[in-house]
Amino acid sequence: MTVKLINQPLKAIDAQLSLEFVTPHQLLSHPHKELLLQAGFKAEDEQLCTLHEHRVMICGINEFSNELFRSTAANAIKTAMEYTYTSLKLAQYGQIHFSSLIEGVVLGSYTFNTYKSEPKISSLVDVIFSNEERDGLDLDPLVLEKILSQTLIISKATNFVRNLVNQTPYDMTPQGMSVVAQTLAKSNKLECTILDVNGLQDEKMEAMIAVGRASINPPRLIHLAYKPKNPKKIITLVGKGLTYDSGGLSLKAAASMVTMKMDKAGGCAVMGILKAVSELQLDIEVHAFVGAVENMIGGNAYKPDDVLRAKNGKTIEVRNTDAEGRLVLADVLGYAQEKVKSDFIFDYATLTGACMVALGPYTTGVMGHNETLKEEWIKASKQSGEYAGVLPFNRHLKKLLKSDLADVSNVSSKPYGGAITAALFLDNFIDENMKEKWVHFDIAGSAYTESPYDVHTYGATGAGVRMSLEWMMSHCQ
Ligand code: BES
Ligand code: ZN
Ligand code: ZN
Repeated sequence: MTVKLINQPLKAIDAQLSLEFVTPHQLLSHPHKELLLQAGFKAEDEQLCTLHEHRVMICGINEFSNELFRSTAANAIKTAMEYTYTSLKLAQYGQIHFSSLIEGVVLGSYTFNTYKSEPKISSLVDVIFSNEERDGLDLDPLVLEKILSQTLIISKATNFVRNLVNQTPYDMTPQGMSVVAQTLAKSNKLECTILDVNGLQDEKMEAMIAVGRASINPPRLIHLAYKPKNPKKIITLVGKGLTYDSGGLSLKAAASMVTMKMDKAGGCAVMGILKAVSELQLDIEVHAFVGAVENMIGGNAYKPDDVLRAKNGKTIEVRNTDAEGRLVLADVLGYAQEKVKSDFIFDYATLTGACMVALGPYTTGVMGHNETLKEEWIKASKQSGEYAGVLPFNRHLKKLLKSDLADVSNVSSKPYGGAITAALFLDNFIDENMKEKWVHFDIAGSAYTESPYDVHTYGATGAGVRMSLEWMMSHCQ
C-alpha cells in the first residue's frame, strides 16, 4: 500500500472511496444525516458507516484529538481493506493531526502473513491525502510533505520491528538477528560489529554466555552504529534480544511460555530506531547494542546457585534462571559503556511480568535516576501515541537485591515491586558517570498484544520506536 499527498482539493482527487471523520455535533448538519441516522450511526467513537452508494466511509470521532484520529484511522483502514476498492482518499483535519492520521493508516493496515498458506491480500493499494482542510482551506504542501515523509519513515520502522518480533524462535535465532543487523547495515550505511561466543569470552561477558549456554543457537552481540559528520549528541541504545525465553531450569509454566518469542522485542526495537534515525538523517550519533541469546534447558544449562562474573567485574548470584534478561543486559551495558562514551544510555527490555502488574498491559515502565529526563520521556511518549509511566526507585528497594554469597542477587528477596528491583539490578552495571544519563524502559506489556487495541493488531506492537524518535527529535536536534 502506498500513502501519498496530492496538492488538489479532495473533490478533484480520483479515488474509489472517500474517508471522512465526523463528530456527533457535525453529524447534525451532515449532507447524509438522514441516511446515517437510519443506519443507527451517532458519530460515536469507533462507530463507522459506509455509504457505498455515495462511495464514502464515515467514522465517528468524539473530539479532534491525535489519540482518537490515530485509532479511528487505524480502525477505518482495517475496514476499508476488507472491501474491494483499490483507492481511498481523505482530507486534512488540521496540520497538528496529520501525522496521527498517517500513523493510523500505516500502523493500522499492518498484517503479518508469513505463516499463512493462503494470506488474505487486500485490494486497497492507494491511500491519498489531499492538502485541503475539510472546511475548504488549503494547508502548506511543503510542510505536509515533510510531515508525511518523516511519519512514513517512523511508522515503517515500527512495522519493521513488528515483523522481526513476530517471527518464530525457529526462524529468528541470535544468528538470524545478526543477519538482520548486517542487512540493515548494508542498506542504511551503518557500521556493524558482531561478536560470537569466542568474542564474548574475550570480552569476559560470562553472564551473557551462561544464559545462552544450553541453546543449540549460540548467542551474538550486535553493535550497529550511525555516525553523521558533526553529531549534536551521542546516544547509546541497548536492547534485550532473547529470541526465546523458556525460563531455563527455573522453567516457565506452559501457559507463560507461549508468546516468549517476544522477549527479543527490545533488541528489535533498537534496530528499528537506528533504521529510522539513519533514514531521517538526524544529526545524532546513535549506537545500538543487542544481546541476542536463547534461554533454554539442557545438561549444560546455567543453574540457580551459580555465581557469574559480569563484564564490569561484579559477581552475581543466580537464584532464578528466568531472570535472565537482566544478566544479558548487565554484560551488554558494561560492553556498550566501555566501547562508546555517550551523552545518554537508554535500554529497552521485556524485562518483568511485574511491570504489567504495576502499569497494565499497554504501558511501558520508565525508570532511572534523573527525574527531568524521565519526565521528558513521559512527554515524548504522550506526543508519540505510546503509553509510558514512571516507576520510582528508592534506596530500600535496592537492598532487596543483597546476596550473602556474591555482590548482588539476580532476584529480589520480596515478591513486590519486581519491575523496579529489576531496574535497580541493572543500576549495578551503570558506570558512576552515566547514572544521571541512563533511562531503562520495561516494555514487557507494551511490546506485544494478543488482542487488538489502538493501532495494534494481534502480535508485536513495535513499542519504543515512536516515543524514542519523538524524544530524539525534540531533545537532540
Ligand atoms: N521475559 C520475562 C518477562 C516477561 C514476562 C515479559 C511476561 C513479557 C511477558 C523475564 O525474563 C522473566 O521471566 N522475568 C521474571 C523475573 C522473575 C523470575 C524475578 C518474571 O517476570 O516473572
Ligand atoms: Zn525470563
Ligand atoms: Zn526474558
